[in-house]
Amino acid sequence: MIKHAQAGWLVDNLCTAVLLFDHESRLTLINAAGEHLLSASARKLLGRAPAELFRDTALATALERVQASGQAVTEWGVDLTTPWGTRISLDFTAAPLFQGTRVLHILVEMTNADRYRRVLRDEAAATQQNAIRSMLKGMAHEVKNPLGGIRGAAQLLERELPEYAEYTRLIVDEVDRLRGLVDRMLVPNYRPHKRTINIHEVLEHVRTLVSAEGPPTLTVERDYDPSLPALLADRDQLIQAFLNMVRNAVQALCGIGKVLLRTRADRQVTIGVNRYRMVIRIDIIDDGPGVPAEVRDDIFYPMVSGRADGTGLGLSIAQALIYGHGGLIEFTSKPGETRFTVRLPTL
Ligand SMILES: Nc1ncnc2c1ncn2[C@@H]1O[C@H](COP(=O)(O)OP(=O)(O)O)[C@@H](O)[C@H]1O
Ligand SMILES: [Mg+2]
Repeated sequence: MIKHAQAGWLVDNLCTAVLLFDHESRLTLINAAGEHLLSASARKLLGRAPAELFRDTALATALERVQASGQAVTEWGVDLTTPWGTRISLDFTAAPLFQGTRVLHILVEMTNADRYRRVLRDEAAATQQNAIRSMLKGMAHEVKNPLGGIRGAAQLLERELPEYAEYTRLIVDEVDRLRGLVDRMLVPNYRPHKRTINIHEVLEHVRTLVSAEGPPTLTVERDYDPSLPALLADRDQLIQAFLNMVRNAVQALCGIGKVLLRTRADRQVTIGVNRYRMVIRIDIIDDGPGVPAEVRDDIFYPMVSGRADGTGLGLSIAQALIYGHGGLIEFTSKPGETRFTVRLPTL
């Protein structure tokens, strides 16, 4: 049995938001997770009715039903908006607490459905990433093995039949190109050599490279949070990953438009099954036409490209490199705003 004084402390340490309403449906207790969910302090919230906590009626209706029936009510995936305009997707249960036969209080437990869905989605992304990696590894191996033999045979032929050198050269060159391609596909399997790095130094390096390639009608701007901590990461791999994403943005812009590199700190973030106190978020935003609908679902798979001269390797390599750092790339896209978001955990 826990003592009453400890109960408050326990409730405050729950991840689930707990709200207690009295028989007049006024909020009489809210825990820390509840304050976090509603983005407001208990002081501001206590005494309010459900209609004053959310613009929508779902919670008020649920409380009325509990009052009337004396039975608990559960709702899944309800979209609610706070008075200050934050939209949250919630699962909640409202349960009656009786005194005799009278409903004295109603206890409401809420969990953020978005977070749960996010975990599921991240797990799916991780599974996909592992599948891609083993497929690439197997394929690269199969392609690479005979290449050595073909190259050697072509060189022998060239020595024996110098009059066909034009053709044997072609074979050797194409074999080398294929080998380079396969090696690039294998890059994500190299273990990262982690050092203390500054994310802004990496991004500035990418910005310099890309700015030099593009016409002056194309700008790469930045909006950095200078207070971000250092990262333990492989500088070359991060440069490669960001270069792939920024180049895509530049290519989508076809010579005119704006790319924005933004950095921020996100607190209490779940990536896959791991929860981090803080992660670094990097957004690569462009005002181009958006990701073509036909590649949208498969964009992180190798060989998926929306461009005639694309290899479709850029994003799968970027995702593998970021994944190797415990992070994840996601994107949202509509005409005029495409955003690739990279989350990297800090220590
Ligand atoms: N910022 C962007 N805007 C529009 N489309 C994009 C963007 N980034 C990626 N894409 C789409 O995703 C596809 C896959 O990208 P990627 O894996 O780098 O391969 P590639 O660039 O060789 O085509 C691109 O061909 C393009 O259609
Ligand atoms: Mg690309």
